[in-house]
Amino acid sequence: MSYYKINNLEEYFKHYKKSIREPRKFWGKIAEENFTWYQTWDKVMEFDMAEADIKWFTNAKVNITKNCIDRHLAKRGNKNAIIFEPNDPKEPAQYITYNELYDRVAKMANVLREQGIKKGDRVCIYLPMIPELAVAVLACARIGAIHSVVFAGFSASAIASRVIDCGCKMVITSDGAYRGNKTIDLKSIVDEALEKCPTVTSVLVAKRTNTEVKMKEGRDLWLQPLLDEAIPNNVAEIMDAEDPLFILYTSGSTGKPKGMLHTTAGYMVYTAYTFKNIFNYEENDIYWCTADIGWITGHSYILYGPLLNGATTVIFEGVPSYPDFGRFWEVIDKHKVSQFYTAPTAIRSLAKESTVWVDKHDLSSLKVIGSVGEPINEEAWHWYNDHVGKKKCPIVDTWWQTETGGIMISPVPFVTPTKPTYATLPLPGIQPVLMDEKRNEIEGNQVVGSLCVKFPWPSIARTIWGDHQRYKETYFSAFPGKYFTGDGALRDEVGYYRITGRVDDVVIVSGHNLGTAPIEDAINEHPAVAESAIVGFPHDIKGNALYGFIILKEIGEYRDRDNLRKEINEHVASHIGPIAKLDKIQFVSGLPKTRSGKIMRRILRKIAEGDFSNFGDITTLLNPEIVEEIKNERL
Ligand code: WTA
Repeated sequence: MSYYKINNLEEYFKHYKKSIREPRKFWGKIAEENFTWYQTWDKVMEFDMAEADIKWFTNAKVNITKNCIDRHLAKRGNKNAIIFEPNDPKEPAQYITYNELYDRVAKMANVLREQGIKKGDRVCIYLPMIPELAVAVLACARIGAIHSVVFAGFSASAIASRVIDCGCKMVITSDGAYRGNKTIDLKSIVDEALEKCPTVTSVLVAKRTNTEVKMKEGRDLWLQPLLDEAIPNNVAEIMDAEDPLFILYTSGSTGKPKGMLHTTAGYMVYTAYTFKNIFNYEENDIYWCTADIGWITGHSYILYGPLLNGATTVIFEGVPSYPDFGRFWEVIDKHKVSQFYTAPTAIRSLAKESTVWVDKHDLSSLKVIGSVGEPINEEAWHWYNDHVGKKKCPIVDTWWQTETGGIMISPVPFVTPTKPTYATLPLPGIQPVLMDEKRNEIEGNQVVGSLCVKFPWPSIARTIWGDHQRYKETYFSAFPGKYFTGDGALRDEVGYYRITGRVDDVVIVSGHNLGTAPIEDAINEHPAVAESAIVGFPHDIKGNALYGFIILKEIGEYRDRDNLRKEINEHVASHIGPIAKLDKIQFVSGLPKTRSGKIMRRILRKIAEGDFSNFGDITTLLNPEIVEEIKNERL
């Protein structure tokens, strides 16, 4: 019997039980039967939760790109691995077969080696959603270099802090990027970032927009001429199961982004397994995930998961609203997409437009539709179900995180009955628990609590790059012996999970995780600002938007408040990125603080939401009178 595929509900429960009782046997069998190894493991897993020390497939040797590409060549060489759909619908799509992908990755891997990149070196990739991005990621994995993809919407200082944190030797970028009707000069953003990054000795530049760029002598090289010279053959690096595969930064509750480190074998096994089951992928399906490869969703479910299964994956360069609000649906029709995976924020923004945009395209190729990144509200769920899935495609509401590497709680389509707004049941191997404030596990159903996971799974991040102590403190100390997700959840009468949202200082805006601390740090650097506090508040389309309470230094100096608001937002955009701009900025004379000096964000959150009903106990505040003022002047 194989555990790789769950075919019905009975099998789900059977596999789930096996995965809990005998996790090593369960994952060992999946790993053995579905992947190519140079050498198998001595132990399936070892762990010490107190030390946050987790290892899977100890001493196994493998290369993930052999599993993503080489092993498919005999059977699927001429099958499309990637379909590239450009920003402009008038530009033809590109179809990259597994054979071609092999050649392109091999050439790129050879270029990287020629440029002096070796196993263990860090390479920052700052590229738009073009085939070169996929090729660059896979080429790093091919030679054992650790890729650190930085989303191409991030600012120069966000790139710099990420490059400095992990000491990248190289940056791979492009002249520019297309985004709807805009062209963005990526290379000049990289140039600005690199002024502060002495470890970077080379920059490879792909051509996309033909924007004029400055090339720095001795550092910058055009990518294409190097690829033209390279040979389309490459011997993959033999990697240890626990060798790092990539670093991906996520926001935290302090100003410094956390470089989550994922390693090779466990990540490979779990992303492949979850992709197969959650999208019910069959050989001739066309799969499309609209995320950016700059986020974990793109890593695991545009690239690795699909390619590990020999799937055809669509890479979409554009945006849902360009050239019109029918673009997603037109692309589904054009490429006969079978699985479509997107974010609630995109669904909400399209649901507010006329359904004519959806109805004029043939969506009959769809089988499964998915949602990720934030809770999907009931209205959006129904719109997605009615207008996109036509009530015949199960919606997989997939809960997971950058830190978890792969999907943790989700329906298995055609197996788990779905329920609007519920991520439903844990995947085999995943043991979620809800914890109360006294750190006790809450038993039974119809309960709410903090969501933890009490046993390791193969794709859990192993550490924060360069700061294992912070990894332990952030994820393993709030509830000793357990991994704490930072999310709250409820478990209904049948044991289905619904994620209610973050319980920490992270706000999810349009599906992007934003730590409030780094935004406050950026704002506080503005010369007019003395102090600031940022909270999230509900927003119809973005899910949440940001509300800033700001104390100014010299009240008199900045008479034009709107201008100052604009300036502060430009400051935020240039320090973090345009996604972190504040929707509302209220200037205040003080912030509610506890006697120990901590800002009481719970009160600010309530004010931002417009809920003045119950502030709880404010007697512990140093300055309770300020609450009234802030409330009265709310925007
Ligand atoms: C939230 C994205 C509700 C959650 C894969 C989590 C969700 C954070 C869902 C991680 C979902 C993700 N329902 N909330 N289906 N999926 N989240 O690291 O708060 O970008 O902790 O990973 O997104 O965001 P990240």
